[in-house]
Amino acid sequence: MTGVYDSGVGGLSVWKELRAVMPSEEFCYVSDGAFCPYGPKDPSFVVERAMAVSRFLISRGADLIVVACNTATAAAITALRASFDIPFVGMEPALKPAALHSKSGVVGVLATAGTFKGRLYLNTLARFSGGVKVIQQVGTGLVELVEQGMLEGPEAETLVGRYVEPMLEAGADHIVLGCTHYPFLTATIEKIVAGRAVIVNPAPAVARQAQRVLAGLRGELPQKAEPAGASGACTFFSTGSDETLRKLVRQIAGDEADGYLYHSLYII
Ligand code: DGL
Repeated sequence: MTGVYDSGVGGLSVWKELRAVMPSEEFCYVSDGAFCPYGPKDPSFVVERAMAVSRFLISRGADLIVVACNTATAAAITALRASFDIPFVGMEPALKPAALHSKSGVVGVLATAGTFKGRLYLNTLARFSGGVKVIQQVGTGLVELVEQGMLEGPEAETLVGRYVEPMLEAGADHIVLGCTHYPFLTATIEKIVAGRAVIVNPAPAVARQAQRVLAGLRGELPQKAEPAGASGACTFFSTGSDETLRKLVRQIAGDEADGYLYHSLYII
């Protein structure tokens, strides 16, 4: 079983890609909503949460954990790999493809404060941003919007516009979504961008990486095409409200969501 973890509903944007490439895999998802957002919190606290949630997922039978949160990956992936003997797949800041394909030489990255401070991001920046100007923007308030299910409408447009418009004015032709909550704002971001830049979501590449790791682990490649209705079981745990979680799961999985299980989780 594959465990998937985020501070809230954001990781569902990764789970969506995971279930697309591994439709028969069983998933267990933890939304740590009681402590969301992670972005402004001290990294040591985020490490503590990542350890507790990982222990929980392993106790449920996870043999692979996808840390579907850029902030938790930045703070905790090294500690997680050192502490548990199962593989962990984390989020990669997708600066490399953006820098590689940029024609204007300007790339925008939208992420949380915690992600920008992490060594993973700083290393990626040092390695792949040569010759490219990178505009970093903390998306303060965007995670909260997504958690409330406010994916479109005037409030979302105002906030997204405040962050994205200056990037476009500075010539950015690629905008990297460096937080797993942000893909749920894609319709709003597209409205603001209006064809002026490519929006880069690293989730599909992370899902393919998880598929490769699972193949190595279990000795076979989880299949891509499955007959309709043959999907694996999914269980969702939340330490906070699960209202938006249930809505987004249904939006992603349609009627298959009827067969999924939801549980509230007291702080683990
Ligand atoms: N989904 C998150 C990320 O990818 C967490 C954001 C937050 O909790 O602040 O960074």
